[in-house]
Amino acid sequence: MQRLFAIAASLLLALTPQQQRGKQLYLTGESAAPRKPTALISADEVEVSASVVPCASCHGRDGKGRAEGGITPANIRWDTLLQATDARPAYTKPLLKRAIAMGIGANGKPLEVAMPRYRMTLEDMSDLLAYLEQLPTDRDPGLSDDAIRIGAVLPPNEDAPVRTMLTKYYAKVGPIFGRTIEPVFATTSGSATERATALQHFVDTQQPFAIAASWLTGADAEMAAVAETTQVPTIAAFSIAVSADAKYVYPMLAGEEEQGDALVAAAGGTRLLTVRDEPPVVGDHDMLLYLGAPSHLASVLAAAAAAPAPPFVLIPAAHSSGAVASLPPALKGRVLIALPSSAKDVTEDGAAELQALGVAQEHVTACRIALASAKLLVEALRRNGRDVSRESLVNTLDAFYAVPTGVAPPVTWAAGKHTGSSAVTIMRP
Ligand code: HEC
Repeated sequence: MQRLFAIAASLLLALTPQQQRGKQLYLTGESAAPRKPTALISADEVEVSASVVPCASCHGRDGKGRAEGGITPANIRWDTLLQATDARPAYTKPLLKRAIAMGIGANGKPLEVAMPRYRMTLEDMSDLLAYLEQLPTDRDPGLSDDAIRIGAVLPPNEDAPVRTMLTKYYAKVGPIFGRTIEPVFATTSGSATERATALQHFVDTQQPFAIAASWLTGADAEMAAVAETTQVPTIAAFSIAVSADAKYVYPMLAGEEEQGDALVAAAGGTRLLTVRDEPPVVGDHDMLLYLGAPSHLASVLAAAAAAPAPPFVLIPAAHSSGAVASLPPALKGRVLIALPSSAKDVTEDGAAELQALGVAQEHVTACRIALASAKLLVEALRRNGRDVSRESLVNTLDAFYAVPTGVAPPVTWAAGKHTGSSAVTIMRP
């Protein structure tokens, strides 16, 4: 019931198409109008694209105004504008349009020159006002004054232990800038399409502000596409093939590509064959890189062992299985497994933290990786400050440089370069 109310409330707050256009204008200065909005800045009347000086760059996303470089942009939240002050009467819509277009305040006097004068179509102007009216209540989903909803998307086999651990962890973290973390969970299984649909359903119904501890491996592209279109910042704790230029998805560890490169370098061969689920025809290849389902690995190993000159078999951990525990003699010393993170990434503090969270040995890998991603998200929220939006969170994450978690390799992210770590450990079973 409570959840139904939450959904109803968030739908009521959803922006109309007009308000959405106004929001884009407010945040970025962009519009779809054939005549693009421009701004006259300074007393010299220099005309620039409005995208150079969007409203939010001075008045803030929340409209409260941020003092910077000696100028104090006014608070332009609707309730404030509609209130008369000692300096000026209350604004009306026509007076607001005049202020934005001509730089004249409600009292009929010129505003400070720091406030640009904007030229835009009448339609753009009404869109902008429609959004200004809504701005005080406009927040990204999953965010309220005293809570922030953080999602986790887990594999069925590790769901329960990771859920318990994360719930404990977020409770220990306590409120961040006055907001308690409310964890929400989803488990996905089945085909890549089914898992992407489950993620979409989770985002629609639970409305997480951001997602940490997400499991994308095996449905990387499909699930990443959902995070991108719904614009939910997502730390992909478990993923192998998310494209590094995604905007909202942040793979935390080395993916298939980095692992493959490290395996090839370690094997030192020259003729590589990449194998997915089909049985390999080894020919004169001296290295097989296995990127198929773990359940097919045994048959691929058998085919490699039967080759006249058995090749090295190179396996990123996500594709490995128990079959490597009993290798045919022909492959002894010729199987290499890549791990994007191993137990040696755990510091003394990290070990103590895992213990305090009651993590059992049999689930330690999944819990440790999930915890690392949750810690990174918490760190981002702390760095971001109270005025947080999905957009500002993405900017904060894009400035992460060698951020340690104590339980996984340190992470570096930058815009357009979202592979958090290229560390790879090679094991020879
Ligand atoms: C370069 C910084 C800057 C940008 C960009 C900017 N403003 Fe301003 N704005 C100001 C400053 C500074 C003031 C205060 C002027 C004063 O007090 O005389 C102001 C004042 C205002 C006021 C009058 C408030 C009052 O109480 O009288 C309104 C309304 C306003 N801005 C709306 C906007 C809108 C809408 C946009 C985008 C289309 C925008 N501003 C873009 C700096 C900016």
